[in-house]
Amino acid sequence: MQALVYHGPGLKSLDERPMPEIQAPGDAIVQMLKTTICGTDLHILKGDVATCRPGRILGHEGVGVVTAVGPGVTTFRPNDHVLISCITSCGKCDYCRRGMYSHCRTGGWILGNEIDGTQAEYVRIPHAETSLYPIPAGADEEALVMLSDILPTGFECGVLNGKVAPGSTVAIVGAGPIGLAALLTAQFYSPAEIIMIDLDESRLDVALRFGATHKINSAAGLVAEKVMALTGGQGVDTAIEAVGIPATFVMCQDLVAPGGVIANIGVHGVKADLHLERLWSQNIAITTRLVDTVTTPMLLKTVQSKRIDPTRLITHHFQLSEVIAAYETFAHAADTHALKVIISP
Ligand SMILES: NC(=O)c1ccc[n+]([C@@H]2O[C@H](COP(=O)([O-])OP(=O)(O)OC[C@H]3O[C@@H](n4cnc5c(N)ncnc54)[C@H](O)[C@@H]3O)[C@@H](O)[C@H]2O)c1
Ligand SMILES: [Zn+2]
Ligand SMILES: [Zn+2]
Repeated sequence: MQALVYHGPGLKSLDERPMPEIQAPGDAIVQMLKTTICGTDLHILKGDVATCRPGRILGHEGVGVVTAVGPGVTTFRPNDHVLISCITSCGKCDYCRRGMYSHCRTGGWILGNEIDGTQAEYVRIPHAETSLYPIPAGADEEALVMLSDILPTGFECGVLNGKVAPGSTVAIVGAGPIGLAALLTAQFYSPAEIIMIDLDESRLDVALRFGATHKINSAAGLVAEKVMALTGGQGVDTAIEAVGIPATFVMCQDLVAPGGVIANIGVHGVKADLHLERLWSQNIAITTRLVDTVTTPMLLKTVQSKRIDPTRLITHHFQLSEVIAAYETFAHAADTHALKVIISP
């Protein structure tokens, strides 16, 4: 089968690879119908993710159809259409029992990282019963690709951890797919203001169409002053970091109001400053999280009921044979205006 293979920092190719096989009783083999590329795949290609070794098939998102199941799998059978979670969970270990699937003792974020992933014709999914979700009949399968990672990530790490509440003020730093997913799902709670901050004017305009009340282009500087002006000199109740660099984590510290929350989503590769000398008395909380995907069933219902429309995040379509071009388009978003790219067989 064809698969996008990581060959070390900066190196990837579309290779011929053997078909995956059932290795454990809880496995399923899924034929991919739609997959996509994540900012985290670009982190891997930069060499930022040490656990991902050369030879690995990338990808941790997508929908597909089950072609085979191990003897331990009773809730899925061949021909079932399924949503693949980016997080693999056994459902039984101590972390899974606490709802912290991201730290599952035999799972977590392993797909397209420690085991072969979804940017291929077929993928093996361990712990299939608790790592796949049935796709309701008549669902828009392309929309559901956004539920593998970005919607639960924006919602769990940004909105839930950030305690977004009715009438509250929110700043989201980073208007990439994750920041926009936080923007869409923050609106479940009717905050009074959602201020979107980015360097990319076209992404900021997308954010306004997605329901942001204000945009700030941080290239012009004076971000904290502008946020203070918009919030009566207080700052925001929730500052969501959705970039993953030291400058934007520091920016969140300059934006948060007393009693507020800084909810970090970004994957950070280097240390960042924490201004405790200023913040110690401000009653703020700082949260971090690797997405658990515990909210996937709930989010699926909101997509089914059209409460949110994640297809608005999809900008480009490719076939698996064009996956290298898909990466080029996704990696040069400032020029291509790409948000999420859909890759089909
Ligand atoms: N915590 C988790 O479980 C989890 C899961 C998935 C992704 N992530 C991480 O979330 C982050 C966002 O993901 P994404 O796919 O949206 O990434 P992305 O690269 O597409 O978007 C980041 C955005 O930040 C903007 N930006 C860059 N520098 C900036 C600056 N100085 N000021 C303001 N804006 C700036 C960029 O213009 C871009 O629009 C990444 O670090 C990703 O790895 C975390
Ligand atoms: Zn991802
Ligand atoms: Zn577990």
